[in-house]
Amino acid sequence: MPARIIGTGSCLPGRTVSNQELEEWVDTTDEWIRERTGIEQRHLAVEETTTSMAVEAAKAAMENAGVSADEIDLIIVGTVSGDMCFPSTACQVQSQIGAENAVAFDINAACAGFLFGLSIAEAYMQADMARTALIIGGETLSKMMDWQDRSTCVLFGDGAGAAVVQKDETGILGLVQGSDGKRGSALTCRNRPVNNPLVKNDPMPDHTQMDGREVYRFAVKTVPQAIEEAMEKAGTEPGEIKYFLLHQANLRIIESVAKKIGQPMEKFPTNLQKCGNISAGSVPILLDHVSRSGMLKKGDKIVLAGFGAGLTWGAAVLVW
Ligand code: ACO
Repeated sequence: MPARIIGTGSCLPGRTVSNQELEEWVDTTDEWIRERTGIEQRHLAVEETTTSMAVEAAKAAMENAGVSADEIDLIIVGTVSGDMCFPSTACQVQSQIGAENAVAFDINAACAGFLFGLSIAEAYMQADMARTALIIGGETLSKMMDWQDRSTCVLFGDGAGAAVVQKDETGILGLVQGSDGKRGSALTCRNRPVNNPLVKNDPMPDHTQMDGREVYRFAVKTVPQAIEEAMEKAGTEPGEIKYFLLHQANLRIIESVAKKIGQPMEKFPTNLQKCGNISAGSVPILLDHVSRSGMLKKGDKIVLAGFGAGLTWGAAVLVW
């Protein structure tokens, strides 16, 4: 498959909120959050926006890849929390980084957004429609939470991650994507309701609602299957994979996936302890952290996997 990640970048808000600080905001405890999720703190936007973090992540990824803005011909942003309904976050990023030759658009695949973006970029490159792409996952989930609802607000954080993907002879070895709209009610956030001269509704948007147990069941069943399918497509055995970089929703989900695939937890780096769940941002931020800490060398095989609202999921096997 002719697409390879050649650079990564990420951006997190400057303000962190510990579990202890959350105890002052909502009826919860540090102990409950750590035991059930592994999360210790999250970054929450104050001055930052989805677009500003996506721009910073994109600039860092381009610098890391040694690619200039005019070489970018495709920008895809996975997000459920853009600052504007339109223009898209991707078009705003295009404008701010000066990528004048790019086609730019957003996709909504929730926590699988980065994986879906990677699939689209790969397909564009197969079809000779793009050579150098910026794939970004960025979220300001904190604005979509009910900060009185302890069952959701403690789980999420804000941030953005980006990767430069370029046409190459190797790189992505196997990709799978899936959706199950029938189970979509497990994790929802309504957009603004109809409000016009014929219908009067409260124009205030909804907050995130989740059936945590249903999402947990979905994740621990579907993610190992998707990873195994991607490895089969890539002709790769689990033992050949250096790291499995999973969506950072919950440590227990990651432990369960590791067990099902029969691989040790040391192969599953995490940053959810410090970042919480950043939906589409989780996978590219973790990839950037792992890459910049020198844990990857050329030729390493890694797996990326995302899963979330929709329900949606995606997994990819890559050679670094
Ligand atoms: N602090 C203290 N108590 C809490 C909190 C909290 N933050 N949240 C819920 N509780 C209480 C509940 O009220 C309930 O109390 P009760 O027994 O008196 O009624 C008790 O804890 C158990 O609640 P459950 O929701 O049943 O807890 P569960 O063990 O299922 O854990 C969790 C909840 C962590 C969300 C779990 O279901 C899970 O990991 N689900 C996966 C979903 C996930 O990670 N979603 C992230 C977004 S989706 C995505 O990114 C894919």
